[in-house]
Amino acid sequence: MSAPAAEPAGRATAVAPANIAFVKYWGARDLERAIPVNPSISMTLSRCVSRTTVDLAAGEAPDEVWLGRIDDPGAWTDPGDAFRSRVVAHLDVLRRRHGLARVGPGAGRFRVVTENSFPAAAGLASSASGFAALAVAVASVLRGGGPATRISDLDRGELSSLARASGSGSAARSVLGGYVEWPAPGGAADDPRAVQLATAAHWPLCDVVAIVETGAKQVSSLEGHRRAAGSPYFARRLEELPRRLETVRRAIAERDFPALGAVVEEEAIDLHLVAMSSRPPVFYWAPATLAVLDAVRALRRDGVGAWSTMDAGANVHVLTTPDEEEAVAERLRSVPGVHTVIRDRVGDGPTVTVSRGEPVDEEETAR
Ligand code: DP6
Repeated sequence: MSAPAAEPAGRATAVAPANIAFVKYWGARDLERAIPVNPSISMTLSRCVSRTTVDLAAGEAPDEVWLGRIDDPGAWTDPGDAFRSRVVAHLDVLRRRHGLARVGPGAGRFRVVTENSFPAAAGLASSASGFAALAVAVASVLRGGGPATRISDLDRGELSSLARASGSGSAARSVLGGYVEWPAPGGAADDPRAVQLATAAHWPLCDVVAIVETGAKQVSSLEGHRRAAGSPYFARRLEELPRRLETVRRAIAERDFPALGAVVEEEAIDLHLVAMSSRPPVFYWAPATLAVLDAVRALRRDGVGAWSTMDAGANVHVLTTPDEEEAVAERLRSVPGVHTVIRDRVGDGPTVTVSRGEPVDEEETAR
């Protein structure tokens, strides 16, 4: 499909990674604004990324949203109404936060082209990486001050808040690299912003993802958050969290993998316990999820350091060390029901490239 030619007043391309939660965001004080009930901690990934380009143009035309290869306009496809509406709603918030009108004098309209490094059919969540990339790209293109906009010039706390404003809470963590904590607010009016606990270089952990389900999940995270407080185990899990959070923070600081793994696995099972006992219940697991969990326990019995976690879906993320990554990937590939194995690892966070017209001027990696 071809898109209309644009005369960009500026262009920014942001690459933002997905993340895997060690302590999960599950349940919201204010769902629309993605204000969480509890603090969460995650590891930012490096290979599962969204790459989003925004062109800023004047004029009255509506925003354009495309899925595709940024370097190949011939390959752009229409993402459909639901996706477009969510992106435009986030653009509206970003415009407001940056003091731009949607139409009229000083208006900013955007053409957005976004693509994922991981296959859309892999059933991995792309909203954290996608909305983090959109927030970084828009902030970069609007920052002004010449072509040399760099991600290190941007306020990470502000970016975290802008990413969260998409409604995808986990996006608030994807604007930072390494190990990241997103605190819980004091009240619903607060604006909790993620902070980095440790860099990726501090501890090079791997995440081997066993893909057991390739379609979209039947119940969105949004709906899962909505139902969570109805579970009789919701309050019980919250009581456990201060201890879990403290253990995870300490394990990251001291690079204590067995301590981290045990608590991360316990927390993931609890998240799904809450989901399964919500009213009506939410079952994210597939039969092969249990088979993978079993294989991970078998790996540990064989002396391999491997610990599992699942977000709101059937796929299993297996944390391991670089030395044991190959053995873990090989074992997971042999589990019946596993379609693919994706080998990812901790990463440095988003990058951005900004240009005011052509050509592209600068690229920098944030660490
Ligand atoms: C289970 O509301 O951030 O992954 O927008 O679909 O990414 P998406 O979900 P979001 O909830 C995340 C739920 C979770 C746990 C987590 O990542 O903390």
